[in-house]
Amino acid sequence: MVHQIFVLLAALSCCFCCGTLAIENKDQHLRDLPCPPAEDIQPCVCTVIDSSTYDIEMDCSSVTTNDELASIFSKDFPYNGFFSLVIENNYDLTIIRQGDFGQKTFQQIHITSGSLQTVENNAFNSSYDTLREIDVENTNLFYFPFHELNLFTQLYRLDLQNNQLHGSPELTSLSLGYIYLTENPIDGIILNSLPLLDNIYLQSTSITLLPPGTFTDLPNLDYIHLGYNGLQVLEAGTINLQTSFNNVYLYNNDLTSIAEGALVGLKGGNLDVRYNQLTELAEAVFRPLMDDSVYVFASGNPLDCGCEIAWLVTSDTYMNLLDDDASCTSGQLVSELDPAMFDVIC
Ligand SMILES: *[C@@H]1O[C@H](CO)[C@@H](O)[C@H](O)[C@H]1NC(C)=O
Repeated sequence: MVHQIFVLLAALSCCFCCGTLAIENKDQHLRDLPCPPAEDIQPCVCTVIDSSTYDIEMDCSSVTTNDELASIFSKDFPYNGFFSLVIENNYDLTIIRQGDFGQKTFQQIHITSGSLQTVENNAFNSSYDTLREIDVENTNLFYFPFHELNLFTQLYRLDLQNNQLHGSPELTSLSLGYIYLTENPIDGIILNSLPLLDNIYLQSTSITLLPPGTFTDLPNLDYIHLGYNGLQVLEAGTINLQTSFNNVYLYNNDLTSIAEGALVGLKGGNLDVRYNQLTELAEAVFRPLMDDSVYVFASGNPLDCGCEIAWLVTSDTYMNLLDDDASCTSGQLVSELDPAMFDVIC
């Protein structure tokens, strides 16, 4: 009896798998349609990722050589326009050469985690008018053709974080909104015309000095992340924003001084200078910011807390714009200082 039930159950579950298989096959067939024949592109795998727009993705994570990649994309496909190219966890591919993608175009390129070192000049040139996102992240990227950026007319997001990029990349683009260069040993950045630039991520680089003018004339910029760098001073004219409710992160640097006029235009936003070497929150620098409702995070600095901080301590308005953990060298919290004492002795 038990045996019979078991057989019955087995038969039933087999039926279930037959049903599932049949459905999957039907889907598979639908998915195949705008894609090139699977055998022409293996080990790349093509899928329709959006059945209403027929967006197709090529996943080439399993290619083993650059020639293999190039030979796949040199074939004639029913359509040349791909939505995305994905290469993930590939530790064989070290270079993308010019001409490797033939006439094929992409809207997004995602090459993440792997051994890629070089994107040659012109390597993505078939996609000058289509690429919206370039994401080459967590590889060993050493060379990227930054001088071509202005030719990518739709490019909105450039994410090259956690690589080996060095020097001082120079960027120009009428379309870029988001730039990620976090965790690269770059020692500078030159931002030319970037009218749509909204967010820039530059934490954990080798930047120790920002020349005046680095973050100026960027009308849409409202988020600058410079945490975990080796900045020691901020000179006048370094950051001048034109947006509102913006955020500037300078935490975990070695800042000993911020010049008057170094940080301008942070209306109603947040300024984070935690964990630096600032001994004062100079009135000339911080008062104009607080007058524009900027909230200042200043804990982790060895503040002197003498009369030079009276302007702050004696005003509830300003104190409400300072984080509660900001403290003096003595360890005393700025928020616990007695304003009456400052009124009398300063
Ligand atoms: C892209 O570069 C190749 C050289 O690798 C060149 O033959 C082709 O004309 C270029 N295409 C565009 C659109 O610039």
